[in-house]
Amino acid sequence: MLHHRLLQRLQRLRRRGLQNSPILWAVVLAALLEVVFHGFRFRVPVPPRELDTPFYTTCQEPDVTAPRENAAIVMLARNEEVEQARRSVESLERHFNQWFKYPIVFLNDEPWSDEFIQTLNATTSAEAIFDYVPKKDWLFPEWIDQEDAKASMKAQGESGILYAGKETYHHMCRFFSGYFYQVEALKKYKWYWRLEPDVEFSCAITYDPFREMVRHNKIYGFTIALFEEKRTCPSLFRKVSDWKEAENIPSTSMWNAGVTASWVPWPFRGHMSWFSHRDRHGDGWNTCHYWSNFEIADLDFFRGEKYQSLFQKLDKDGGFYYERWGDAPVHTLAVNMLAKPHQIHHFADIGYRHDTFYQCPANAPGGQLPESKTLNSAKETWAPELEGGVGCRCECDGRKSLNIPSYCHDKLRAPNTMRRPWSTWFLSWIYA
Ligand SMILES: *[C@@H]1O[C@H](CO)[C@@H](O)[C@H](O)[C@H]1NC(C)=O
Repeated sequence: MLHHRLLQRLQRLRRRGLQNSPILWAVVLAALLEVVFHGFRFRVPVPPRELDTPFYTTCQEPDVTAPRENAAIVMLARNEEVEQARRSVESLERHFNQWFKYPIVFLNDEPWSDEFIQTLNATTSAEAIFDYVPKKDWLFPEWIDQEDAKASMKAQGESGILYAGKETYHHMCRFFSGYFYQVEALKKYKWYWRLEPDVEFSCAITYDPFREMVRHNKIYGFTIALFEEKRTCPSLFRKVSDWKEAENIPSTSMWNAGVTASWVPWPFRGHMSWFSHRDRHGDGWNTCHYWSNFEIADLDFFRGEKYQSLFQKLDKDGGFYYERWGDAPVHTLAVNMLAKPHQIHHFADIGYRHDTFYQCPANAPGGQLPESKTLNSAKETWAPELEGGVGCRCECDGRKSLNIPSYCHDKLRAPNTMRRPWSTWFLSWIYA
């Protein structure tokens, strides 16, 4: 209403031929200033140095006798993915689990085939547990109109949104967003490492990441962050930020780093909320998200009251079906909002590939422990060592797939990281 009056006023000024009037200029100046001040609210101080460095930047002699954390590697798979699952487990075995022997929990929404059980059990030297996703977690909830949802998914699929035409894909995203954390098979664990079929590790992981997460007070670790395909979740940011406001949750620097302040001046800014990826005030989300097919994280964070209440709200909304909300953007917005920035860790030293995207660090100069007998069981050749490298025996020459610089939260990068893409970003010290 206010801005209608403002508009009328401007029109009146124009009719009177007052384009050059000081009042008009004052209004324009005020609007500009307002936009600048508004932008400042989302400013994230650029850290003077890296605040989230890798736990180790050279190879370590794996400590095979140290106590382990209460943790499991978890893979959701289908029987027909036996070969892809085997490749992932074999790669993790060779680069990590042959020394650390964390149990692997396999989850399926259907009965396991003997072939899958035998093949995967034989691929890991650690304990393998074959369990199930409860049927109720893989069905439409009762508040979803199935006819509607199916029509909507069909339309999404036809418009070319990746996997959006597949009903099970929607169930899976919803499962990984919330019910995953309640699964009986994971109740006894505190930590999980999510593993997917058809991924590949390209560096030796010679320390226990769970242990380091605990030691450094971290709760969420990732390897790759990228921008979401925008059509999968047009209303997700609005729903999450509405919940955030209702719960009176202050903005962390990580939350602000994902927000693009609107350049439209008050009081017109609110109208921007009609567009997708905008909150009720009209500010936008850049869709940068941690790629959740790799996660090393604290189950208690996601089982906690705050996260579960956010998930319930999103689940009731139906966006897992009427849109194609992925668990990655859901996890990301929640972690950036509810965790302290210094509790988030980028595993810049872990070489990882899924689909066509990968992260592969350069090898640390002088840090490859060439005479280590233990490490030679993983690999005896590796890519050249490079200044600034943080990897251990990484092999990633000649890859054609896309090398993702691992962060899209550009606002959080220390200035000297621009030339060192594999170094880590970030973290506002105010919360440290
Ligand atoms: C996996 O293999 C081990 C040793 O070969 C065996 O003791 C165990 O029972 C097997 N587990 C399953 C689930 O088949």
